Amino acid sequence: MTKIVRASAPSKIILTGEHSVVYGQPALVMAIDKKAFTKVERTKTITDPFIQITTQNYNTSVSIPFSTGPEFFKNQLVHLHPLLHIIQTIYIKEGLNDSLKIDIHSEVPKGAGLGSSAAVCVSLSTALTSVFDLDYSLEDISNLSFKGEKIIHGTPSGVDNTVATFGGCMKFQQGNIKRVRSSAIQLIIGNTGISRETKKWVSKVRTRYESYPEVIDPTFEAMGSLTQEAEKFLANGDLEKLGEIFDINQGLLSTIGVSIPKLDHLINIARTAGAYGAKLTGAGGGGCMFALVDKNNQHPVFRALQKNGIEPIIVNFESQGTKSEILSEIPSLNPQKSKKSGVAVLSSSFTRLTASSMIRSAIS
Ligand code: PMV
Repeated sequence: MTKIVRASAPSKIILTGEHSVVYGQPALVMAIDKKAFTKVERTKTITDPFIQITTQNYNTSVSIPFSTGPEFFKNQLVHLHPLLHIIQTIYIKEGLNDSLKIDIHSEVPKGAGLGSSAAVCVSLSTALTSVFDLDYSLEDISNLSFKGEKIIHGTPSGVDNTVATFGGCMKFQQGNIKRVRSSAIQLIIGNTGISRETKKWVSKVRTRYESYPEVIDPTFEAMGSLTQEAEKFLANGDLEKLGEIFDINQGLLSTIGVSIPKLDHLINIARTAGAYGAKLTGAGGGGCMFALVDKNNQHPVFRALQKNGIEPIIVNFESQGTKSEILSEIPSLNPQKSKKSGVAVLSSSFTRLTASSMIRSAIS
C-alpha cells in the first residue's frame, strides 16, 4: 500500500515580553501565516524500512535505513537530527515498519527567531500521525515535536511548538500557556540577516540585570505590564494603542541592551513610513523586527524597508494550527498502475530536485 499526506504548521512571532519572560513576566506569542510543510509518502516494506528526507531550505536529501537512526550523522546534517528523532520515537512507540519519503519545506527564514524549527517539527509529527492513521491529540503532537525542539535548542520553553500546533495567540508565563483572543492583525517583518544567538543575548541581559538590579528589575516589570495592556488592545483591535505598546517595549528592550543599530534603523524607517508601532522580536542582537500595519499604511512601510535593502515579509495573524490532508491512498499498489499515479510524479520531482544538490548518504 502507498499513502501520501501533506501537513502544515504555522510559525510564530513574539509580540511582547521577550527576555522579561525569562524573569517570570508574561509574554505574548502569536501564530503567523508563514508555514512549514511536510509531505510524507508511506510504502509498505517487509525488510528494514528506508527513510528518505529532502529538506528544500537546507538543500539536502538523504536516504538511510531506519535502523541506522540519528547517530549515523554524528556531527553532520545536524538539522536532520530532530526530525530523525521524532520519526524514531514514533516508529518505536507504535511498532511501525513502513518506508517513508519525506519532503520538507518552510516559508519561514531559518534562524530568524520566527519558530521555523518548531513549525517543521510539528508539521512532520502531524504528517506522520496522519499517514499512519494514529489517533494522536494535538497535545500529543505538540509533545512529540517538543522532543525534536529539545535536540535543537537544549531547554526551549515549549511555546514555539505549542503555537505551531494550536495556532492563535498565546500568553506565556512561568511555564503556563494560555490562549488569548486576537484580532486579525497584520505585521511587516524585516530580517536584519544577522543571525541571532538566543543563549548569548539571554546571558548578556543576565549580566546587565546583575549589575543594575534596581533598574533592570523594574524594567522587566514594566515589560510585563505592557504585555497585559497589549492583550487588551490585541483583543479589541485598537492598532494605535497596540502600536504604542510595541514602541514602548522597544525602548525597554534597548534599555536592557538587546537592540542593535541595524534593528534601530529598520524600526525607525518603519515608524517614519507610518507604521502604528515597531519593535524587535525574539532575542535581539540580530534576527527580525516587525512593524504593525493595516491596508492604509502597509505599502509605504513595505517600500521604505525595501529601499533599505531588506526583503520585507507581510504576515497575518493565523488562527489555525497544524493541519493535514491526504493527497493519495492506494490500498494495494500494483506496480503497473503506479507509473501513472501521483507516486510516479512525486519521484520524478524528487530526482529533479536532488540532481543538483543532493548530499546522498545512502547505505543499503
Ligand atoms: O529569538 P527566539 O525565538 O529564540 O526568542 C527568545 C526569547 C527570549 O525571551 C529572549 C528567551 C526565552 O527563552 O524566552
